[in-house]
Amino acid sequence: MSRHRNIRNINIEDEMDDDYDDYDDYEDEEESEKPYTYDRNSLSANYYTYLTDSGRNSPTPTAPPPAANVPTSSYYPPVSTASPTVAPAFSASIVRNMTAPLLQQHQKPPKNVNNRPSTPQGASNVNTPKRTQQVKNLQAESATPNVSRPSSEVDLTAYRRNQLQNIAKAPSVPRKTPKPRVAEKDLINLIVVGHVDAGKSTLMGHLLHDLEVIDTRTIDKFRHEAARSGKASFAFAWVLDETEEERERGVTMDIGRTSFETSNRRIVLLDAPGHKDFISNMITGTSQADAAILVVNATTGEFETGFENGGQTKEHALLLRSLGVTQLVVAVNKLDTVEWSFERFEEIRNNLSVFLTRQAGFSKPIFVPVSGFTGENLVKRMDLDWYDGPCLLELIDNFVAPQPPSDGPLRIGISDVHKVSANQVVVSGKIESGEVDKDDKVYIMPSVIPATIKDCASNNGSKHYFAGDYIMFTLQGTFEPESVQVGSVVVKSGPDTLIPSRKFQVRLVVFEIATPIIKGAKSELYAHSLCIPCTFTKLIHTINKSNGEVLKQKPRFIAKGMSAVVEIETDHDVAIEAFTSCRALGRVTFRSGGNTIAAGIVEKSITPQ
Ligand code: GTP
Ligand code: MG
Repeated sequence: MSRHRNIRNINIEDEMDDDYDDYDDYEDEEESEKPYTYDRNSLSANYYTYLTDSGRNSPTPTAPPPAANVPTSSYYPPVSTASPTVAPAFSASIVRNMTAPLLQQHQKPPKNVNNRPSTPQGASNVNTPKRTQQVKNLQAESATPNVSRPSSEVDLTAYRRNQLQNIAKAPSVPRKTPKPRVAEKDLINLIVVGHVDAGKSTLMGHLLHDLEVIDTRTIDKFRHEAARSGKASFAFAWVLDETEEERERGVTMDIGRTSFETSNRRIVLLDAPGHKDFISNMITGTSQADAAILVVNATTGEFETGFENGGQTKEHALLLRSLGVTQLVVAVNKLDTVEWSFERFEEIRNNLSVFLTRQAGFSKPIFVPVSGFTGENLVKRMDLDWYDGPCLLELIDNFVAPQPPSDGPLRIGISDVHKVSANQVVVSGKIESGEVDKDDKVYIMPSVIPATIKDCASNNGSKHYFAGDYIMFTLQGTFEPESVQVGSVVVKSGPDTLIPSRKFQVRLVVFEIATPIIKGAKSELYAHSLCIPCTFTKLIHTINKSNGEVLKQKPRFIAKGMSAVVEIETDHDVAIEAFTSCRALGRVTFRSGGNTIAAGIVEKSITPQ
């Protein structure tokens, strides 16, 4: 089956000079370079009924063992790994269905195939249709807004700056000692990536079946139904491809989430789409990932299609690395189609490891031969005369969990706004750092609106919410139409509050783009759940990808494959910050003309004086 497309029409020409004489000095950068349990259906009743205050009497959790640090390379700055607290398991259906309890009352949750708009029109317009509706609701309901804010834009800026200074000067809110957890296993957010049709969903569906978390009857049912629509071979993929459209087309479109446990780990599995049309969903998943499995197709000619320009293998690998994922297993899949040929495995390993280590910057990618279809080497070691290494499950069990920075400053990235009124907003999002409790006083950035956390719930029924938890909560305050949006961040006051800005210094890796990035080029910036137009305002220097050395100051352009430090300006203030302060809020991706053109990390925020 071939769904490969050779489209690389990166489009930044709007902002490019016609004059490319400088390309004479275009120099491509030198390549230096058991019990297994399943909680898919275990969404607690507590969670669904939290609004009636149930789910608050769960047993006192116990402390998890401290986790080791995630290794980082010399190129990327060290990751802050402050606290030993580990987030709770979070099942797939919980994430996918998180909106269910509240939306039932107000609206049907849409299947959000493309979480982010591909062409943002500006911060105020970077709304999903759902949010546009919410803003309308708010306008209707906020008949008596009681925030007295200055009206002219100049006054408003001064007012905001004043507000921010006061918030930052406020004494730190004392942080609570992280409460012990029920779970004792480390949590790993694991993303499965790779070129379209590499067999990602089949591989993971089969693994879940072999772990007995999906029963054989369900697979048989899938096989029967898939056969009726002429897609019998997709039975295992249907475990993760849950929507009708995905099943009909035989293509993963949105991140499929589920969770399971291995001997030592709790795994939140994120099955990414391989098709380039859905790359923004892949990026969303990657920005939540701690480790990755890159699946490649060993079938004759297919590895090459995925690996060459136009294929997603390289782009996915670069995205992983650029978004801070350092742990990688490469699953060389569909080896049954080449009779488990050692030569083919070696050929793929050799080609790919040069790229992964020298260009993408992974230090030790591990290669494992598998067949997602026939099931060899998934949960049991297989009998091969040329391979006696670990099976896929053993490698998953060996991933190292990052320590969620629970004792860091509070950062909750809002990924859904469910219900809005003038005084209450119901939202959900991930606690990227810090902890939060009911009645905590918080601020919403970048709008600088004070609010109080009211009803709050996560899937584990705990009363305490820490870094790593996905929570749904109510914010009480006085809101204007755009006070709370997808991409807003909830913070506390004090020295480590988040000061919104529109200028940032970013270190990035440029992908296979047709036209280089020049000063003044426009793009779309993606960071956590935010999407906003931005401009490359300064090209500061290019750098050597493998050791971070400066290659050229003030380059005139940044071409494909290069690494560079640039200054960018967003159309409006946004709540992102240095990667060293908060990984999740410091990972950024740039897209243009429907393609990912670069990704990287925020080095610093340049706040207005
Ligand atoms: P996208 O999510 O759309 O990128 O695809 P995917 O990588 O998830 O691939 P999927 O699991 O949907 O599988 C695509 C096709 O490859 C299906 O027909 C599978 O049966 C087939 N396939 C997957 N793994 C194997 C394998 O190990 N061997 C063989 N022979 N076929 C496989
Ligand atoms: Mg898939």
